[in-house]
Parts: sequence; structure tokens; C-alpha cells
Amino acid sequence: MTKPNISVKLGRWGGVRRPIFILGILALLVCISTLSKFYSIRSLFISDTFCSHVNIECQRGFQSEPGIAVETIVIKIQKEMNEMRDMPIDSSSAETIVSRYNAFLADILGLIESLQTTGNPQENSEIRAVHPLVGRKQQSDEPAKFFMIEEIRKYVRIKPNRLGKQNFMGANGTFTSIGHACFAMKKDIEEYMDYDVGEICKDDWKLAQKLMVHGCDPLPRRRCFARAPQLYSKPFPIDESMWKLPDNRNVRWSQYRCKNFTCLASNTTRKGFFKCADCFNLSDHELPRWIKQVISDPEMNLTADFLIPEVLNIKLGEIRIGLDFSVGTGTFAARMREFNVTIVSATINLGAPFNEMIALRGLVPLYLTINQRLPFFDNTLDLLHTTRFLDGWIDFVLLDFILYDWDRVLRPGGLLWIDSFFCLKEDLDDYLEAFKMLRYRRHKWIVVPKLDKDDREVFFSAVLEKPPRPFR
Ligand SMILES: *[C@@H]1O[C@H](CO)[C@@H](O)[C@H](O)[C@H]1NC(C)=O
Ligand SMILES: *[C@@H]1O[C@H](CO)[C@@H](O)[C@H](O)[C@H]1NC(C)=O
Ligand SMILES: *[C@@H]1O[C@H](CO)[C@@H](O)[C@H](O)[C@H]1NC(C)=O
Ligand SMILES: *[C@@H]1O[C@H](CO)[C@@H](O)[C@H](O)[C@H]1NC(C)=O
Ligand SMILES: *[C@@H]1O[C@H](CO)[C@@H](O)[C@H](O)[C@H]1NC(C)=O
Ligand SMILES: *[C@@H]1O[C@H](CO)[C@@H](O)[C@H](O)[C@H]1NC(C)=O
Repeated sequence: MTKPNISVKLGRWGGVRRPIFILGILALLVCISTLSKFYSIRSLFISDTFCSHVNIECQRGFQSEPGIAVETIVIKIQKEMNEMRDMPIDSSSAETIVSRYNAFLADILGLIESLQTTGNPQENSEIRAVHPLVGRKQQSDEPAKFFMIEEIRKYVRIKPNRLGKQNFMGANGTFTSIGHACFAMKKDIEEYMDYDVGEICKDDWKLAQKLMVHGCDPLPRRRCFARAPQLYSKPFPIDESMWKLPDNRNVRWSQYRCKNFTCLASNTTRKGFFKCADCFNLSDHELPRWIKQVISDPEMNLTADFLIPEVLNIKLGEIRIGLDFSVGTGTFAARMREFNVTIVSATINLGAPFNEMIALRGLVPLYLTINQRLPFFDNTLDLLHTTRFLDGWIDFVLLDFILYDWDRVLRPGGLLWIDSFFCLKEDLDDYLEAFKMLRYRRHKWIVVPKLDKDDREVFFSAVLEKPPRPFR
């Protein structure tokens, strides 16, 4: 069975190889002739080590760049030829070979094109004015040079627009960005970016999340296909999905301690996450939240939980869109939906598939760490709700930055709902100062002792309204 198969592949491969080869050689010739228009042979081999690594403007920067590019092209072609020689022919089909060579040629042509655009000194000086990274040669290559994996070098390189014109956004190039902490996690990011273009990615979302949590955020994009559950069955219809545990087959479970939703919902299993341990128990734990008052200590008759109707009544009919920055399965958004309020739930997958769960319930998950500025424009949201996320662990300066960012996205008259923020009693005053700093109008404000932990911790809840701040 296999032998004829191989010979068929061989035949197709042979047919494919010749034109590709000719094309490759053509590309090389085009490249060399392009270069010889601008540069003497000598300048091709000026390496950028001529330029000091300190911030001295390198006069010949634009000349050494093509030299490096030509070197890169030559190395690439040699590498590709070697690899082609060693390639086990039966392991890949003709299609993958064709797409591989298409990608290879596109790559080479792209390099040649970038030579043409960076080659003209006048154009170069124009770009210099646009972006500090583009102008100075060492700086522009620094991020790319730092990494050894080709895919990440390609990603961080600034991509000049084709034809050397501005694009519709008014920029002369595209400036793909990665979090600066990626540089401190070189090994991990290189492992993450080490993949085959066009293939299925490794099952490494956990590595990606680790990178993000540690500040490599945003992550670079990748050119491989993310793994999906083996058998994805369509989600339940919207009238069922809100309050029903989803189909187990719609989640990849390999990186979690629990291997199904029943395990996550039961209160007897060790699940590998502690925040919101009951969040997957929709029937008992989640159902009454924000709808029914649960008073744990009837003697004191105090609770830090406000109900959705009483909060919405503060601004009747005015609250339409908002963000829930919490650890959870989207129950807040599910309840708000019943009040015709659209809530986006921001969370990461800490020990459980929170994002998949929210999406399978029919709500919008936003995969976002605390490290990033919120992806909303100024003065846009009606409501910001947070629970079980910002707690007594958070640094005061960070809390300050976060609160100003939240203030930024809230519209004047919008509500900030701090839901059961907990911290040590002795820290309370400092945290309250941070919230008071906003100078919001207080609609609700309550501090409740937390009953377990020897009376050392307290809950704080508040509903605050952003004041208008007219121009002065
Ligand atoms: C982008 O390049 C064009 C010429 O192609 C130039 O006129 C323009 O000033 C550049 N943009 C900026 C922001 O410098
Ligand atoms: C769910 O997972 C638990 C252990 O993780 C296992 O004991 C149980 O049988 C599983 N249930 C189903 C329905 O697969
Ligand atoms: C949810 O919690 C209740 C009470 O803690 C428990 O009786 C029930 O079995 C849990 N639900 C699931 C699906 O495990
Ligand atoms: C599970 O929930 C039930 C009912 O709330 C409670 O009695 C039981 O102690 C819980 N079990 C664990 C292990 O938390
Ligand atoms: C608890 O306090 C609320 C008002 O804060 C009151 O309406 C309610 O009747 C009280 N419940 C009990 C059991 O004292
Ligand atoms: C939500 O909107 C629907 C349709 O517009 C309306 O019938 C319903 O009464 C609204 N619900 C609330 C709680 O306002």
C-alpha cells in the first residue's frame, strides 16, 4: 500500500522541485542585481559592528543593513538547500513541500523588497523621523537580534508598508509589539516561538499564560494552528447554555487537574485552583449570587454582597455596557444579561478553563491579565465590577495605576462596583485611601469583618459613581 504512495509523491515532488528551484535562483539573481545598483561590493560586507553599541549615530548604518540582509539571504538559501537534501521524502506530502517553498520564496522576496525600501538613503532619513526604532540602525535591530528563533525575529522587526507609502492609519510601517519582560524570559519565549509555520502548534497555552502573567504581554503572534478539542460538539442553545455545565468534549483538559466539569463543580475534589473554588457549581453556589441576599451571620445582619437590582436602581436605565474584572465563570454577566446589560468578563485560566466556560455559557470572555492597560477607550463603559481579584495582595502603587486606568474607561456617571475586596484589618485604611483618592460619589460603602481567619481580615464593598470632570 505504501510503496506506490511514495512513488506518487516522489513523482509530484520531482515535478514541483524543478520550477521552484529555478524560481529560487531567479530570486537570488534579482536580489544581487538590485543591490549592485546601490552598493559597491565592499559595502556589502561592512558589518554593523563598525557602529558603536552606545548611542552614537551611525553614519553608514543604512549601508551595512543591506550587507546583512544579503548575508541572511545567502545563508537562508544554503540552509534550505541542505535541508532539502536531507529531507526524508516519505514524511511529508507534496502539498506541504509546495507550501513550504512558497513560504520560502515569499520570505526571500520580502527581504529583497525591504532592501529596496531601506536602500535609498533619503527614504531612510524620512523613516528616521517617524519612529525612534526605525531611524537608528542598532536600535531598530536590537529586539530582533536579541532572539535566536527566526519566527520571533521576524515578528518584532518593523514592517515598512509596501510601496513605501503611508497606510490608511497614517503610519509608514507596522510596529508589532511584545511585552518588554519577554526579553527577561528569553528561554521561555524562544520555546514558545519555536514551531513549524503552517503546522499545528504545541499544546502550550500554559506556557503562554505563564509568559503573560510574568509580563511578556502582549505575546507575539504565531503562524501555527492552535490546538482545538478533539471532538468539538456545538454549544448548547442560548436558552439552555447559561445555567448548564457545558459538554466536557469542548475543552482541552490536558493541563488541568480536573478532567471534566463535574469534577470542577463538586466541592469534594482538589481542583488545582483556590479562588472561586465553587464557581463551577452553577446549581448551588452560582445561582443566588447578586440576586438573593445571603447573610452568613444573622446576629450581625451585615453583608458585603450587594444585589444587582439595587445597584442598577441607582442609575435606572442608564447602565448598558460594562466590564467584570474577576475570577469566575461569568455568572455576573449571565445575571446582568437578564437586566439587558452587556458585560464582558475578563479572566485568565488559573487552574481551570474559565474562559472556555464563560464562552460555552454564551457570554464574552476577555483573556486579559492585570499587567495590561484595559483595551477600551476613555469614558466609554457604564459599569466596572470586580470581585475576588484585587485583594489584600496587591501593591499600593499598582492599585493606583489600575484605579486610574479604570477611571479612564468609565464614563462620567458610570459606576465602579468594588465587590467584597478583602484584606488584613491593619491594611484596610491604606486601601480605603486608594479608593477615596478617586473622589467618586459614594452610593454604597461597607466594611464587614470576615468571620473565619480569627477576625484578622475584613471585606470591603462599595458602589461609587465617577463624577463629571468638566474642562478647566
Ligand atoms: C511617511 O512617509 C511619507 C512619504 O512616503 C512622508 O511624507 C511622511 O511624512 C511620513 N510620515 C511621517 C509620520 O513622518
Ligand atoms: C470526572 O473526573 C473525575 C476525576 O477527575 C472522575 O472520577 C469522574 O469519573 C469523571 N466523570 C465523568 C463523567 O467523566
Ligand atoms: C454543588 O454544591 C452542592 C452543595 O455544596 C452539592 O450538593 C452539589 O453536589 C454540587 N454540585 C455538583 C454538580 O457537584
Ligand atoms: C460541600 O458542600 C456541603 C454543603 O454546602 C458541605 O456540607 C460540605 O462540607 C462541603 N464539602 C467540602 C469538602 O467542602
Ligand atoms: C437586616 O437589616 C436589613 C436592613 O439593613 C433589614 O431590612 C432586615 O430586616 C434585617 N434582618 C434581620 C434578620 O434583622
Ligand atoms: C429586556 O429587554 C426586553 C426586550 O427589549 C424586555 O422585554 C425586558 O423587559 C427587558 N428586561 C428588563 C429587566 O428590563
